[in-house]
Amino acid sequence: MNPFLTSQLHSWLRLSHLITKISSASVYKLSVISLGLFVTSKMTCLLAIILFFVVPCAALSFNVVDYGAKGDGQTDDSQAFLKAWQDVCDATCQGTPSLLIPNGKTFMLQPVKFMGPCKPATINIQLEGTIIAPNSVEAWKWPNDDGKKDKWVQFSDIDGLVINGGGTIDGQGAPWWKFKSATRPAALHFHKCGNLKLTGLTHRNSPMNHISINECIGPHISNLHIIAPADSPNTDGIDISRSSNVTVQNSRMETGDDCIAINDGTSFINISGVYCGPGHGISIGSLGKDGAHNTVEEVHVQNCTFNGTTNGARIKTWEGGSGHAKRVTFEDIILVNTENPVIIDQQYDPNCYGLTQAVQISDVTYRNIRGTAACNCAIKLSCDSTIGCNGIVMENINITAAHEEKIYASCKNAQGICSSCIPNVPCLHEN
Ligand SMILES: *[C@@H]1O[C@H](CO)[C@@H](O)[C@H](O)[C@H]1NC(C)=O
Ligand SMILES: *[C@@H]1O[C@H](CO)[C@@H](O)[C@H](O)[C@H]1NC(C)=O
Ligand SMILES: *[C@@H]1O[C@H](CO)[C@@H](O)[C@H](O)[C@H]1NC(C)=O
Ligand SMILES: *[C@@H]1O[C@H](CO)[C@@H](O)[C@H](O)[C@H]1NC(C)=O
Ligand SMILES: *[C@@H]1O[C@H](CO)[C@@H](O)[C@H](O)[C@H]1NC(C)=O
Repeated sequence: MNPFLTSQLHSWLRLSHLITKISSASVYKLSVISLGLFVTSKMTCLLAIILFFVVPCAALSFNVVDYGAKGDGQTDDSQAFLKAWQDVCDATCQGTPSLLIPNGKTFMLQPVKFMGPCKPATINIQLEGTIIAPNSVEAWKWPNDDGKKDKWVQFSDIDGLVINGGGTIDGQGAPWWKFKSATRPAALHFHKCGNLKLTGLTHRNSPMNHISINECIGPHISNLHIIAPADSPNTDGIDISRSSNVTVQNSRMETGDDCIAINDGTSFINISGVYCGPGHGISIGSLGKDGAHNTVEEVHVQNCTFNGTTNGARIKTWEGGSGHAKRVTFEDIILVNTENPVIIDQQYDPNCYGLTQAVQISDVTYRNIRGTAACNCAIKLSCDSTIGCNGIVMENINITAAHEEKIYASCKNAQGICSSCIPNVPCLHEN
């Protein structure tokens, strides 16, 4: 659509929203009023009729460039993106309107928050180009509102958001990484999203974690490529908290920290086809920090590869906390030169030893785990002396040494069964 038509269409839509708000007139009455308005303008009746009666969302692609985004990699395009978002979010057409971020351009964004709720039941963000963060720590401009400096691009209170298009989100994190213990922003944050679909993008060099999902139901994440250097601090791939029915599949994560971290308040998490490495593996926790009550349940990790990671399938909790991690399965896992391939650490911080409560870990199954370990301790179940771990099931485990070491499993306070385990796991009953 040519820019004139597009902009007419947008102002027309804004006008019709206004009219809708003022009167709850039927579409017929509304169109008559609107038509009248147009007759008095310079536009032809024909155009008005076409524009009004034919507003299928499929034709409604809101291109950020039409809102003034430059895409030169330098200019701050945040306001143009927010204006375009407002129109997409307010669109009252049938179908799925889309926000287009075109190919061949690089858009620099300051911290931005795309807010819902929106009128369309589904919205598509077609990210074909590249979005980059400011290129130095000093160049970030933070809004004055809540004072938090921990997120770059945020989506909040939006149902039915689909983000695809094959583009790239680059957090330009390198200058941040030296401030290891300071607050650093997550690149992409979703809060209260219903049925989010995020697929086919490349995520690079976040200052902190690449993607965080909080208070979402049913997000579906697939075919992502997440890349940051092995030594970049806390550059998790995906962090999930207070969310349920989450699917992550067929993605490749090469980062400096956890590929996926599953945190408090999560249930029904399905992860499959994830390749992880370098990185710290797929982690549940840490849970129970500073005495917190945390819960994680129904986690299913399947058909994943850990290559050169510092951990594989990991559950970590702090002593002194409460709650549980239960009904967790890791299956069909390939290990390549993995340190700590299977690890439960219920005493994550050794400084807390001696506290009398802990997060309960139970019903954890490891099935078909095979490959090579880069440490002698292929399996480490280190559980709390008062609460212990129970219902640990291992089946078809075959972990061999990547190098020459003698490989073994170590156990403290863990209970369960094991069938066909190499190495032998002394605390589990053989089945
Ligand atoms: C998770 O995956 C399992 C097995 O693939 C499937 O049975 C289950 O329905 C899935 N759960 C969700 C919440 O997607
Ligand atoms: C989540 O998935 C589980 C298991 O498939 C299902 O029983 C439950 O209703 C789902 N919850 C929501 C909120 O969709
Ligand atoms: C396992 O994951 C890979 C991606 O890592 C995918 O290509 C393959 O189809 C998956 N296999 C099964 C059986 O799901
Ligand atoms: C593991 O990573 C190494 C180094 O990047 C690579 O050469 C090798 O092909 C990878 N192996 C698998 C099974 O992906
Ligand atoms: C375990 O893996 C090693 C190395 O791949 C292989 O030689 C051995 O046959 C496997 N053992 C079993 C019982 O599958």
